Amino acid sequence: MSFPHHRPRRLRSTAAIRDLVSERRLARRDLVLPLFVREGITAPVPVESMPGVVQHTMESLRAAAATAVDLGVGGLMLFGVPSARDECGRAGAAADGILNQALQVLREDLGDATVLMADCCIDEFTSHGHCGVLNDRGQVDNDATLAKYTQVAIAQASAGAHLVGLSGMMDGQVAAVRQGLDSAGFVDTLVLAYSAKYASASYGPFRDAVDSQLEGDRRTYQQDPANRRESWREVDLDIREGADVVMVKPAGGFLDIVRDVADRSVVPVWAYQVSGEYSMIEAAAANGWIDRDSAVLESLVNIKRAGADTIFTYWAADPIPGLLA
Ligand code: PBG
Repeated sequence: MSFPHHRPRRLRSTAAIRDLVSERRLARRDLVLPLFVREGITAPVPVESMPGVVQHTMESLRAAAATAVDLGVGGLMLFGVPSARDECGRAGAAADGILNQALQVLREDLGDATVLMADCCIDEFTSHGHCGVLNDRGQVDNDATLAKYTQVAIAQASAGAHLVGLSGMMDGQVAAVRQGLDSAGFVDTLVLAYSAKYASASYGPFRDAVDSQLEGDRRTYQQDPANRRESWREVDLDIREGADVVMVKPAGGFLDIVRDVADRSVVPVWAYQVSGEYSMIEAAAANGWIDRDSAVLESLVNIKRAGADTIFTYWAADPIPGLLA
């Protein structure tokens, strides 16, 4: 008995056929745009290590947010860059802190037309740059930090955030913040848990973007890139603590983790294409070493194929050929 020739190429023979059988389409609403707002500046400041990204003034932030929402992005994630920092990151929870002020302005501008998200961490606001408060031996104090996160979350929800993003990797942070939000009456504020967040070299450019004061590293709280199993443990705990959404971060180098989490999670799975992933493609493109548009699209499709429902990316509001409107 003879078999017909198997010709997988038949399905690739015209653009229309390829389009028809494509398993994955990426739309603007699948993307969330991270934005930086900086206190005390009068014009946007370019982030040198992230070409095309700026630290916004309040006014330029409003314009960038409105444009992105008009384009159809799925949401906005805000980070604040304060002009003064202290040991405990007090500005994170202050109503007149830069991030909370920006949330208030954007919520007034945009209402429920987008999903307004806030980075619920204190590293941008601490003088030492760590994501938690330090004990007298200079170590990050997990349980003392939980109270800080709760104050920050309540301040962000009061300012108008629809969602707080817990990016600090403290144990028990989801339960603490959920409980705090609920008792302050914010039962509808979403909690995004950065569940599987790795201590990655790819955060380098971001630390420029927020003028990070960090010396050393975050290896006592962020995960070891060598480890796979503990991601599921983190996700499992966060879901049990009440996370509405779980996140894998970074995305590009951790596609196996995205797939693991997508296969097991009962809540939406998001992934963060971080600053280093952005800057590496931009830098190679600027040198003429890679085709920017196709590299950008492919990097995002890869993350989607691995199982992410939504992707945080600094390209969310850029023209991306191949993206659905
Ligand atoms: C911490 C935080 C970081 C990023 C987002 N939230 C930095 C870190 O963990 O050091 C990195 C994002 C990026 O690199 O694009 N609040």
